[in-house]
Amino acid sequence: MSQPDTKFGEYGGQYVPEALMPAIEELTDAYRRYVLNNEAGFMDEFSERIEDFGGRPTPLQRAEQLSSRYGVDVYLKREDLLHGGAHKLNNALGQVLLAKYMGKERIIAETGAGQHGTATAMAAAHLDMPCEIYMGRRDINRQRPNVFRMRLNGAEVNPVDIGRGTLKEAISETMRDWATTVETTHYVIGSVVGPAPFPAMVRDFHAVISEEIRSQTAAKLGCLPGSVVACAGGGSNTMGAFAEFLGEDDVDLYAVEAGGSSLTVDEEAGVAPHSASLSTGEEGVLHGARTKLLQDRHGQIMESHSVSSGLDYSGVGPQLSHLVDEERVTPVDVGDDDALEAFHRLSQDEGIIPALETAHAFGFLETTLGPDGDGSVEFEEPVVVNVSGRGDKDLEAAIEETEARELENAPDMEVFE
Ligand SMILES: Cc1ncc(COP(=O)(O)O)c(C=O)c1O
Repeated sequence: MSQPDTKFGEYGGQYVPEALMPAIEELTDAYRRYVLNNEAGFMDEFSERIEDFGGRPTPLQRAEQLSSRYGVDVYLKREDLLHGGAHKLNNALGQVLLAKYMGKERIIAETGAGQHGTATAMAAAHLDMPCEIYMGRRDINRQRPNVFRMRLNGAEVNPVDIGRGTLKEAISETMRDWATTVETTHYVIGSVVGPAPFPAMVRDFHAVISEEIRSQTAAKLGCLPGSVVACAGGGSNTMGAFAEFLGEDDVDLYAVEAGGSSLTVDEEAGVAPHSASLSTGEEGVLHGARTKLLQDRHGQIMESHSVSSGLDYSGVGPQLSHLVDEERVTPVDVGDDDALEAFHRLSQDEGIIPALETAHAFGFLETTLGPDGDGSVEFEEPVVVNVSGRGDKDLEAAIEETEARELENAPDMEVFE
C-alpha cells in the first residue's frame, strides 16, 4: 500500500498545535486510502469530475510568435483554460471531494489572488458543500472580480485585517478557524504548503498537469520536454508541472519566483520588496512546515511583495525547497516590471492574457532570450511554459500599475499658473 510523503530531506513535517493533530492524522489516513490507494474508486470519480466539470485535458499549444522571437520551440500548457481560469481547480475539486468522502460538512479555504478561493467556491457549489473563504483585505482590494465570483458561487468571503492583509495572514486565520472546527470542517489549503500531508496531496492532485504534458509532447513531438518553466508562489502549479519529470534528469525544471521591485532587503522595514524565498530564503518554520522562508536575522518572518497577489508569499512548498537544494530545480526571479511587460507581450503576440503570476514565467524567457536578454540560460527544447491562469482577474491591477509606471516615466511637465 502506498504511503504519504511527510518529509522532503530536512523540509516538511507537521509543526502544528496539539489541537490540530487529530485532524492532520484523519486527513493523512484519508489521503493514503482514497488518493494513494484509490479506495472506493475515489481517484476514478476525481478523474471523471475534473474532465466533465473541469474541462481536462487542457491543450498543449505551440506559441508561434514566442518561438520565433526567442529562437527556441516554445509550447504552452493551457491551464488558463481549466474551469475557473487557473490550475487551482485540480486541487480544490480533489480536496472538496475528499472532504465528502471523509464525511465533513463544511469547507474553509484561504486565498491570495482569489483563484484558489474561486476554485474552492466552485467545487463546493458543484459538490453541494457550504464554504467560507478567508482573504486578506489588501488582496480583496486587488482582486475584486474574484471576490464577486466567490460570492456568486455561494461562498462567504471573510476579510482578514491583520498584518499586511495578504496570503500569509489569510492562511493563519484559516488555520485558527480549523483548530476550533476540525470535527465538521475540512481546510482546503491552496498550494503545496502547510503541514504534511498537504504538500504531497496537493502535488498529487496537480500532477495531472505533467502527466498530460508527457503524453502530449510524446504524441505531438515524439519526445519529452527539454525544459519546463512555471511560476512559483507556494509552488502548486510548479509541482504539478514538474511531478512527472522529477526522475527524468534530461528535463530541466525552472521555478520562477517574484523578484518584486528589488532583491535588496531593508531589514528595519520588516518587509522584503520581493517574494523570492527559494533563491534568497533561509530555513525556518511557517504554517506547519519547515521550508525556505523570508526572515530577518532574528528569525522573524518578513512580509513579502509582488505585483501579483498569488506570488506574494514569504514561504514556499517544502518539496520545492528540497529540490532546489538537490539542484534538481533551478530557482530564478523576475521582477514586477518585467512581469508587467510580459503580461502585455503575451496578450499582443499570442492573443492570451495571462495572470500576473503566470506573466513571471514569460518574463523569464524575455530576460534571458529576448532582444535585451542576458543570455544566461541555454534552454533545452522544446520549452514548455505552464500558463497557470488567465488574466481577467488582473485587468484592474494591470491598468493601475501600467498607468503608475507611465506617469513615473513621463517627461516633467511644465506647469502654467
Ligand atoms: C494563476 C495563478 N498562478 C500561480 C499562482 C501561484 O500559486 P502556486 O505557486 O501555488 O501555483 C496563483 C495563486 O493564486 C495563481 O492564481
